[in-house]
Amino acid sequence: MKKLVVLSGAGMSQESGLRTFRDMGGLWEEYDVMDVATPEAWERNPELVNRFYNDRRKQLIDAKPNQGHFLLAELEKDFDVHVITQNVDNLHERAGSSKVLHLHGELTKVRSSVDPDLIFELDGWELKLGDKCPKGSQLRPHIVWFGEAVPAMDEAAEIAAQADIFLVIGTSLNVYPAAGLVHYTASSCPIYVIDPERPPISMKGVTFIEEKAGAGMLKLKSLLGQS
Ligand code: OAD
Repeated sequence: MKKLVVLSGAGMSQESGLRTFRDMGGLWEEYDVMDVATPEAWERNPELVNRFYNDRRKQLIDAKPNQGHFLLAELEKDFDVHVITQNVDNLHERAGSSKVLHLHGELTKVRSSVDPDLIFELDGWELKLGDKCPKGSQLRPHIVWFGEAVPAMDEAAEIAAQADIFLVIGTSLNVYPAAGLVHYTASSCPIYVIDPERPPISMKGVTFIEEKAGAGMLKLKSLLGQS
């Protein structure tokens, strides 16, 4: 089976009703990223940061995977599909994708604010300030904030390097190191990009599908010869 590696971003979940970050009406229009997505923000104003992620979690509980997520999961019948996602939602998993690597963390998990390896599933949407891990430290969202290392990056780069086909879907490719993953692919690896707005990729062998995730995945399926 050919290995199909996918780098997904917030646009993948837009049709599920979750807001992207940098589009018109995106989250970073309402919030300053420095106020809610940095370790300094957590130090300075944990109430605001915690409320921001509690709100995201509350919305995720009501959100459902969309056609794009489902079509991608279906491709597992014919391809060895590896999803590398910048998304912190769990919609790929809920649609049935079996190999999902989260580069920027997961909303449904929390972790010790002292030891990044102490990670726990959160029951429900609400993390409260004062909720502590068994070792006594305050729990924080399991999110890779700006300025923090991306622990899954090495594994992601290895997966990208083995791709027979690479798909970029719903990401503006603004945030590194994730945005650089495409450069780990072999020179012979065809690259497909699904996004209504072309993100900046200046490489050869790129096929742009200027559609939303659902319609774009339908087109990709037919391009890959799947009915
Ligand atoms: P962005 O908001 O930067 O980009 C979203 C992309 O999705 C844009 O290229 C849109 O054109 C596209 N898009 C919008 N609607 C779409 C749809 N229905 N179908 C397909 N594409 C659509 O989001 P990301 O690139 O994911 O990190 O952002 C990367 C990181 O920046 C996020 O993981 C987050 C953010 O700050 C952290 O919070 C650590």
